[in-house]
Amino acid sequence: MSYQVIARKYRPQLFDDVVGQRLVTDTLKNAIQTNRVAHGYIFSGGRGVGKTSTARILAKSLNCVQGPTVTPCGECPSCREIAAGNSVDVFEIDAASNRGIDEIRELRESVRYLPARDRYKVFIIDEVHMLTTEAFNALLKTLEEPPPRSLFVLATTEPHKLPATIQSRCQHFAFRLLDYSEIFRRLQEICKAEKIQADEGSLSVLAQAAEGSLRDALSLLDQVIAACGENLEEGRVRQMLGVVPTRLLKEMTESVHAADGRRVLEMVNELAAEGYELNHFAGEYVRYIRNLMIARNCGETSPLLQVPSDERKTLGQLAGLFSEEDLTRFFQILLRTEGELRYSLAPRFHLEMGLLKLVHARRLASLESLLAQLGQAAATPKQSSAVPRGSFAPSGGAGSPIKAQEPSAQPTRAEPSRMSAPAAPSPATPAPRPSAAAPLPAALAEPATSAVSNDPLHSIKSVLFEQSNKFLSSCLDHVSGWRFEDGEVRFLFPKSAATFADLIRTREQSEKLRAICTQVLGEPVRICVTLEEPEGQAAVARPGARERAENDPVVEAICKKFECTVVDVKDLSQE
Ligand SMILES: Nc1ncnc2c1ncn2[C@@H]1O[C@H](COP(=O)(O)OP(=O)(O)OP(=O)(O)O)[C@@H](O)[C@H]1O
Ligand SMILES: [Mg+2]
Ligand SMILES: [Zn+2]
Repeated sequence: MSYQVIARKYRPQLFDDVVGQRLVTDTLKNAIQTNRVAHGYIFSGGRGVGKTSTARILAKSLNCVQGPTVTPCGECPSCREIAAGNSVDVFEIDAASNRGIDEIRELRESVRYLPARDRYKVFIIDEVHMLTTEAFNALLKTLEEPPPRSLFVLATTEPHKLPATIQSRCQHFAFRLLDYSEIFRRLQEICKAEKIQADEGSLSVLAQAAEGSLRDALSLLDQVIAACGENLEEGRVRQMLGVVPTRLLKEMTESVHAADGRRVLEMVNELAAEGYELNHFAGEYVRYIRNLMIARNCGETSPLLQVPSDERKTLGQLAGLFSEEDLTRFFQILLRTEGELRYSLAPRFHLEMGLLKLVHARRLASLESLLAQLGQAAATPKQSSAVPRGSFAPSGGAGSPIKAQEPSAQPTRAEPSRMSAPAAPSPATPAPRPSAAAPLPAALAEPATSAVSNDPLHSIKSVLFEQSNKFLSSCLDHVSGWRFEDGEVRFLFPKSAATFADLIRTREQSEKLRAICTQVLGEPVRICVTLEEPEGQAAVARPGARERAENDPVVEAICKKFECTVVDVKDLSQE
């Protein structure tokens, strides 16, 4: 007798033989037992997960001489013919090669006649999503008014491509991808039945490579038996399937841990020289990192680990070297690298860069922790950054390199826009200025305003905000600097914002502003609104963008954290 491939030889013949699809098979069994079998079913799911097999079992259950039964005998002519795929009343149609209206018309014609011998006429249409629109419409008619004793099973890997009209007339069963352990166990059973000696490692490689499809696992098994005979061992199987040895994955991980970029690159070279598919390697490594993540979270004995038992310990140890955060980051980097490799013309370079990123990723702090630190740094500004009286303090408005935020009444909130650099050309004599750390002028600490800020301009804006005076507040957004000297508060506007300066100069507005400034600064003041001097002079009055940036607490914190310096500063107000 000719050789029958393992996948076909071990096609499940009973509902209980179907691996991993309990939900589907139990429901179908129940329907048969209660005589509630529908006329139309959609079986969807990945390739090789049991759709056709289950459809045939359903057909057998209904047509078995001893049926309808949930345990078809497998002996009667109906059962045997259905299993062999040549029953007179069970039709398997491949919609991928019979897509057109003619085939469906033929089918409709055939449906009209009663079954020749069995109880039901069953139509199993594989890859049904491939039908043309006309063919779907023709099929729809039949599904709408199904002749008695007819049953349609529409199998597809892409259920979303089925018209809603078809979907709504069928019961839909989604077949899931199979677990690593389900596939592994099935491989073990079949090897035992076939008297194949296979070590755990080799079956593990097959189970992983199958990626959820039992048929793929069995086809691969056939392939390695053909190549290696009846004794399978991991090394050969890996080599045959082009699967990277675990040893390499382990060493790669150790090199990443040791931040040994050189070794990482050498290993890529070895992989390429030995003819491994680099994107295959990337995929393997993604899986390896995933396993490390499981080991880190659930321990090395977790059933979620997709590895043979002797590898578990190593995984557990390696996982201990990394934080969860590291592993998550590795996973993301590798996933992206794998995706890029698929379309890359220079996959090797992509892989090298991707792996080097892993090496460096460990040195990076998490965004969350950085933000937290920056928040702290900004919340506790340096004393020395006070703006001396009589000098222009740059504002967070249009004149600032960083765009201003809404004025906030919350005193502790970090304020990225605040530039508190000493603006005086002679910083040698910094006079004390209202500051959160320094003694505050009376009004600042008073409940008259709940805004306690170390920047009076900010406090002024806060008061305006509380008074819902959007008009003045938005005018002040354009202030590029301000000065408080001899009872006069001078607001400086860039030429481009002259209109806003004019608006504030109106009697009504300047009076309002004066009242607020008096309140905030704790003494009677006069208000003066001026435009920036052309070029040179303004530069003296106002610190350069660089100086302001370098003294900004946020910038400072970043420099400290990353051990870097400010190379270039761009003053956005100049744009
Ligand atoms: N759930 C399963 N339980 C047991 N064996 C299975 C299962 N899924 C697949 N197999 C094995 O794979 C072979 C193919 O399965 P089947 O034809 O049922 O898959 P399918 O889902 O119809 O795939 P396709 O979408 O490619 O048509 C079967 O003969 C059987 O050996
Ligand atoms: Mg199928
Ligand atoms: Zn039977």
